[in-house]
Amino acid sequence: MASVLIVYYSRGGHTAKITQAMAEHIRQQGRECDLFRIGEPSEINWDLYDSVAVGACVLYGTYDKSVFAFVNQYQQQLETKPNSFFSVNVVARNPEKRIPENNKYLQKFIELSAWKPKDVKVIAGKVDYPSWRWYDRWMIQLIMKMTDGPTDPKAVIDYTDWQDVNVYAEHLIGLAK
Ligand SMILES: Cc1cc2nc3c(=O)[nH]c(=O)nc-3n(C[C@H](O)[C@H](O)[C@H](O)COP(=O)(O)O)c2cc1C
Repeated sequence: MASVLIVYYSRGGHTAKITQAMAEHIRQQGRECDLFRIGEPSEINWDLYDSVAVGACVLYGTYDKSVFAFVNQYQQQLETKPNSFFSVNVVARNPEKRIPENNKYLQKFIELSAWKPKDVKVIAGKVDYPSWRWYDRWMIQLIMKMTDGPTDPKAVIDYTDWQDVNVYAEHLIGLAK
């Protein structure tokens, strides 16, 4: 039976929610799926999995350093399996920026990571001003002002295309075959 591992980094919980939706969808298709949060103390038994995806949210134009540390440490294990990387960011609220070649954050990951993913995906994330610290809120409002995005400090907008998340989850099953 195809078994998929999804490794993720989430600051505010939205990337975690996306990975949970993927895992549920994969299990609904009768396949196995485990989630691993970067920073968890437990060990991964890589032998259990037929494909692996790594996903992370974008924070100030890049990814948490623990994401790069993880993919560098496990580069060999990642490379021996069908693999995929997905980037979660709000610039991707614009459909054009969901095309990997047009998403600078995805390109940045490929450039900075020792592991070069065989397959990539861009997923639009969530704006959640009320839950962000004043400094983050202020900075992101500034970025949004420059890119014609929402600036209302009360705005909570989920840009994720959940249907497409399911399609990607099925794609990960396909990679595992
Ligand atoms: C501190 C901070 C910085 C962010 N910087 C960017 C950014 O530079 N570009 C972008 O497109 N999205 C940026 N975002 C948006 C996040 O990528 C988006 O909210 C994502 O859904 C967060 O996922 P998480 O809840 O798993 O942390 C930022 C969010 C936060 C909180």
